[in-house]
Amino acid sequence: MADAGTTADSAAGEVRVDRLVPGGEGFGRGGDGRPVFVPGGLPGDRIRATSVRDRGGYLRAESWDLVAPGPERVAPPCGEADRCGGCDWMRLSRPAQVRSKAGLLREALVRTGGFRDLPDPLPVAEAGPDLGYRGRLRLHVDPEGRVGLFARGTHEIVEIATCPVSAPEVEAGLGTLRRHGAAHPGALGEFSGLELRAAPRGAPLLAHLFPRQPGGRLSPRARAFLEALARDMAVAVSGRAVGAPADQRWPLPGGVELRAPPLAFTQVNPAVNDLLVRAVVDGALARDASDFCDLYCGAGNFTLPLLAAGLRGVGIEASTDATRAARAAAHEAGLRADVFLTGDVPRRTRDLHRAGRSFELAVLDPPRTGARDALPLLLALAPRHVAYVSCDPVTLARDLRHLAGGGYTLDEVRGFDMFPHTHHVEALAWLRR
Ligand SMILES: C[S@@+](CC[C@H](N)C(=O)[O-])C[C@H]1O[C@@H](n2cnc3c(N)ncnc32)[C@H](O)[C@@H]1O
Repeated sequence: MADAGTTADSAAGEVRVDRLVPGGEGFGRGGDGRPVFVPGGLPGDRIRATSVRDRGGYLRAESWDLVAPGPERVAPPCGEADRCGGCDWMRLSRPAQVRSKAGLLREALVRTGGFRDLPDPLPVAEAGPDLGYRGRLRLHVDPEGRVGLFARGTHEIVEIATCPVSAPEVEAGLGTLRRHGAAHPGALGEFSGLELRAAPRGAPLLAHLFPRQPGGRLSPRARAFLEALARDMAVAVSGRAVGAPADQRWPLPGGVELRAPPLAFTQVNPAVNDLLVRAVVDGALARDASDFCDLYCGAGNFTLPLLAAGLRGVGIEASTDATRAARAAAHEAGLRADVFLTGDVPRRTRDLHRAGRSFELAVLDPPRTGARDALPLLLALAPRHVAYVSCDPVTLARDLRHLAGGGYTLDEVRGFDMFPHTHHVEALAWLRR
């Protein structure tokens, strides 16, 4: 047997992939019965590993040949699907993707969360097209100015020419960006990453670039590149607009608008976001909640529609740019603008608790890492209902377990297919004290 972490010369033999696991990889058992993770492997596939990494307790098939495909393996709608690390489930049929997401969400809630008696399958809601859905695309740039996504499992850039899951405006923007990059040799390499974001109102397309040396001066050629690019789309560097204003707007349920400056978070899939926001608002109304706190509220994606539905509340968010935009959006909609508090959620929640504030409903939508630090304070606030929105089933399950230990019961969980063709799934969990 090879040492843990080394590459074994001998393959794990033939492996049948039984299922998909959190992280999106296939999973099966090798000839000796040891677990084998198969990146890119799909349920029912029979593979022969050509390079295996021995991790002691388990094996990882670093490269493999497909012996026989599983029943849900399909031709991908993108020519880069096998190289690009962006869409790891593109070779899985859409119905199987959705079923698998329901399975991964359920498995996390059972294994990590310790929850029993969950519906099987859990519902996973879909909306809009499964291609062209992505209104926001984050790209890496290498020092040579190559722009793309990382290849699967590496930090090597795949220079995608097109991206079928991205909105047409974003795809077109990628071509425009490359054209200006080619006309200004060396300029793009001064940036380490960028985001292209399309919006139906305000700036139709934004290129937001992040310098390789934050705070350093950009060269004249990089500045000339930015000025040329800004003639075709809104441009910002580290949050600051170059030329025309870079603010963007999206309609939200309840007749309100989300306004987002470059640095404010926005959900990638507007059609599924609409469904998610409606689920939060409808859930709040069905539970007769009259007031709420929205933790990690961003630019007010949930706060604004909840206010528009007649609830009172506060939104807490670390990004000054996001809360400033949220106040402007509330003001414009004739809603109270002073409800948005800028700051760290645990600290701000503690202040609210000390001030004797209480809420019937707490909505929280933390970053992927979850809300561990905020949970003791959330328990102290003791809202009657909690709506937890998450893009990571495992940290969601971990945090729900904490809340269950603090006296909450899991009422309802639903997945949202916010990221078709990837293993990622958004989820909304309702809890009751
Ligand atoms: C997943 S986004 C959700 C934003 C918003 N709910 C939405 O749907 O657009 C998470 C947000 O949490 C904010 N954030 C991260 N850590 C934070 C913290 N410790 N305190 C306050 N906000 C934080 C980020 O700036 C980001 O806007």
